[in-house]
Amino acid sequence: MLRVWDPLVRIFHWSLVASFGLAWFTPRSAENLHQWAGYVAGALVVMRLAWGFLGTPYARFSQFVHAPNRVARYLLAILTGREARYIGHNPAGGMMVLALMTGMAVISFTGWMMTTDAYFGEDWVQNLHSLSAHGLLLLIFIHVGGVLLASVRHRENLVRAMISGQKRQAGAGDTA
Ligand code: HEM
Ligand code: HEM
Repeated sequence: MLRVWDPLVRIFHWSLVASFGLAWFTPRSAENLHQWAGYVAGALVVMRLAWGFLGTPYARFSQFVHAPNRVARYLLAILTGREARYIGHNPAGGMMVLALMTGMAVISFTGWMMTTDAYFGEDWVQNLHSLSAHGLLLLIFIHVGGVLLASVRHRENLVRAMISGQKRQAGAGDTA
C-alpha cells in the first residue's frame, strides 16, 4: 500500500465535513454555534491553502490542479468508461477541491460580514451567504457522487483511503 493522504489532509477533510454539517443545521437555533462552526471551516480552508504549497507531494496543488482541457478530456473519458485511475486526486477531483474550498471561503467571509456594523442587515450579503451555502451543498452532492463513481470504477474504497491515508499501488495504466 502507498501512503497518499498525510494526517493533515485527513484531519482537514473530516473536520471540514463536521464543521459544515454543524453550521448547516444550526443557522437559527444556536447562532453562536453556527458562527463558530463557520469560522472553524474558514480557518481550515486557510490552513489547507498553505498546505497546498508546503505539504506532502499529494497534498500540493501543483500535483492535482490541471489545465481545463485536461479536465475536459478526463470528463469525456468517464463518459466512454476509459478514465485512468489516479493515485492522487484525478483532474476532475482536483477542480472540485478548488471549488469546494472557494465556496467554503465565500460562505465564511459573507457570514463574518453579516456580523460587522458596515454590512449588518445588507440584503446582498445575506443573499450571497445563503446562495453560497446552498450552492456548496449541491457541489458536495456532486463531490460525493464523484467519489463513489471513482470507487466503483477502480474497485477501491476512496472513503476508507481518506481515513487511513493509504491506497493500492499504481498498476499498469494508472497515473501516479
Ligand atoms: C461538507 C462536505 C464535504 C466537503 C466540504 C468536502 C471537501 C473535500 C475536499 C476539500 C477534498 C480535498 C482534500 C484535500 O486534498 O485536502 C475532498 C476530498 C475527498 N472527499 Fe470530501 N468533502 C465533503 C464531504 C465528503 C463526504 C461525505 C465524503 C465521503 C462519502 C467525502 C469523501 C472524500 C474523498 C474520498 C476525498 C478524496 C478524493 C480522492 O480520492 O481524490 N467527502 N473533500
Ligand atoms: C460552513 C460555514 C457556514 C454555512 C454552511 C452557513 C450556512 C448558513 C445558512 C444555510 C443560513 C440560512 C440562510 C437562509 O436563510 O437561507 C445561514 C444564516 C446565517 N449565517 Fe451562516 N453559514 C456558515 C458560516 C457562517 C459564519 C462564519 C457566520 C458569521 C460569523 C455566519 C452567520 C450567519 C448569520 C448571521 C445568518 C443569519 C441567521 C438568521 O437567519 O437568523 N454563518 N448560514
